[in-house]
This record gives sequence, structure tokens and C-alpha cells, in this order.
Amino acid sequence: MQETNNWTLVGNANDLIKKIESSGGLIEVSFENKKIVLTYFQDKFGALNNKCNHMGGPLSKGKLKNGCVVCPWHYWQFNHATGESLSVEASKHFTSTAGSVPSFPLKVEGDSLFIDLTQESKRVPAAYNMKSNLGREPKREAGKIRVLGISTTAMDKENPRFSTSEELLRSSLDKAAAQLDVDTKFIALSDLNFRNCEGFYSKSEKACTWPCSITKMDPTDQMNVVYENLVHWADVVIVSSPIRWGGASSLYYKMAERLNSVQNQITTKNKVLIQNKVVSLIITGGQDNIQSVAGQMLTFFGELGFSTPAFPFVAHSLGWSSEDMERNMDYVKESDYLHEESLKLVERSVELARKLI
Ligand code: FES
Repeated sequence: MQETNNWTLVGNANDLIKKIESSGGLIEVSFENKKIVLTYFQDKFGALNNKCNHMGGPLSKGKLKNGCVVCPWHYWQFNHATGESLSVEASKHFTSTAGSVPSFPLKVEGDSLFIDLTQESKRVPAAYNMKSNLGREPKREAGKIRVLGISTTAMDKENPRFSTSEELLRSSLDKAAAQLDVDTKFIALSDLNFRNCEGFYSKSEKACTWPCSITKMDPTDQMNVVYENLVHWADVVIVSSPIRWGGASSLYYKMAERLNSVQNQITTKNKVLIQNKVVSLIITGGQDNIQSVAGQMLTFFGELGFSTPAFPFVAHSLGWSSEDMERNMDYVKESDYLHEESLKLVERSVELARKLI
């Protein structure tokens, strides 16, 4: 260890060990406005800058695991004494390198622990291994109006079944591509493997990031397909959902929770990622509750920044006293009215998008 004349007393070493051990392996100490996470593991003290390399999470609020400080926000891990990040192989919580958090020299002399605050090591920034450039500024590329359909129906990929809401979405997209001079894309959420939102926002609004923290950390997560097309590609988004127990589908909510990272940019940075885009809905169910589902979904997309056309959804249900699932699929398949109305919904949405752009 380098000898300097800048040693500052931290406290009695034995008292600190007791305090650290009774606090789960780490405590926060402050000097000259510098917050430090102080640790003790296998007879060795460690002192790191309290600010995580990722989004600045407070390391002292995390935990000590196998000699590493685990950040409470997204679980990146740093050696408690050197500040170096855990190797990629040993952690699923980052995909390239999380760099190094600054560390401080410490020494025990007599009963006392001293720290040298003048010898803070350099912070080595993290390097992400993201599959795409999602974080770029959203900028509409010239070209035809782009219509994205997102089916939120849950189904087994190996044994797909007929979905009434997806049928209306697909057929309206096909007709729109042929008749409306637009480009179209279709995404079925059931084709994508993506993780649940882990509610980082509830720890701190800054812990919910754009691009989404999960997308940054986990290259196998496929929510990037939705982010890329919804934020960067589409002018119009048509979302289809079945009604499940009076609400939208579970996959819809799974997607919506992950879209908190888009909305949160407005909260934390006053940055609206969704501008001049239109959303509309196709909702079907065996029983009723259409207006409740539509109202909830429209409110959510409005909060992201989407506009809606007049008459912003097409819906179908046979109603509480007429539920008949054997007949329901054929009813939708054979309904010219529902197919025509779904196409008209796309037309209205495209018309509004043309005005907005
Ligand atoms: S892991 Fe520390 S802020 Fe994200």
C-alpha cells in the first residue's frame, strides 16, 4: 500500500467490524461530502465510492455477497475492496463489463482504521453489449406511413389457435398494405421471449432507464423488438387484445409494464419519445367489459404520448347472457362488418398520422 500523510481516522476497527457485520456486511460512511461504502469480508476492510457505475445507484443500500457489493438497483456486482466488476461469466446482470467503481486505500494501525481520501482510484466506466442502438434520438425517416400491429394474445407457439382479435388485426393490416399505400409490420407478443418488468422504478425513478435496464443487461431479452418498432419505426400502432376476466390480456400488461421505461423519460427528463404517433385498438371477448378495457388501454397509450383518432377502437363481444365460445370464433371469422370496421379503423388512424407528420 502506498504510504501518504493523508490518513483520516474512520473509527475503532473492532467497533466498525461489529457495526458492519450487524448491518449485513456493509455500511455507509461520509467524509467531506464523499459517500463511501465500507465493508468487511474475510478479515479485510474495503472502501468504495458509494455511486454505482451503472446509473449511480447507492451501493451502501445494497448487500454484500461473496465479497462483492451488489447494487440495489440492478444488481451489478463489484469487488468490495478493489471495486472491479465481477466477470461476465459469473453474473447474469451485465453483458459486457461493468468497469470499476473507485476504491480507497485503508490501513489498520493499533485499534484504529484509517482511510486515504486523496488516493481514490479512477472510475472505469461500464461498456454495454446492447444488440441495437435503441437509445438514439427518435427521428422519423422519410417514406410511407408505417403501421405496426401488435397482437397481445397469449398462445402456445407450437400449437397456435385461432384468435379473434388477432384475426381482425392481421386481416386489417393485410388489406391496409394492399389498399392504403402504407408499410405494415406485425408483431405477436407470444413469439417474443421477454422478462417481466422488475419494478426498478419503485426503488427510484432514476433506476428505470431508457433503454430499459433489462434490455441493457440481458441480450436474450426480446422486448427490444417492441421498443425498436414502437418508438423508432411506427407512425401508427394498432394493438389487439382479448378480454380476460374483464381486463386486457396478461401479455398486454407484461408489455405495458416494460413500457414504463418510455413513459419514465417524460417524468425524469421531460423527454417525450413518442411524438406524432397514433394508436388504436381491436378488442374482442366472449363476455363484455369492452369500454373498461379500451378506456384503460387508451389512457395508458395517451400517457406515453400517442394520439387517437375519432372512434379509436373496434370491439366485439357476444355479451354476458349470450356467451357461446363454440360460435364466437365463426362469428368473427365470418363477420364482414367486423373486418370492414377494422380496416376503417386503420384508415382513420393513418389519416390522422398523415395530418400529424
Ligand atoms: S446496477 Fe447500480 S445503478 Fe444499475
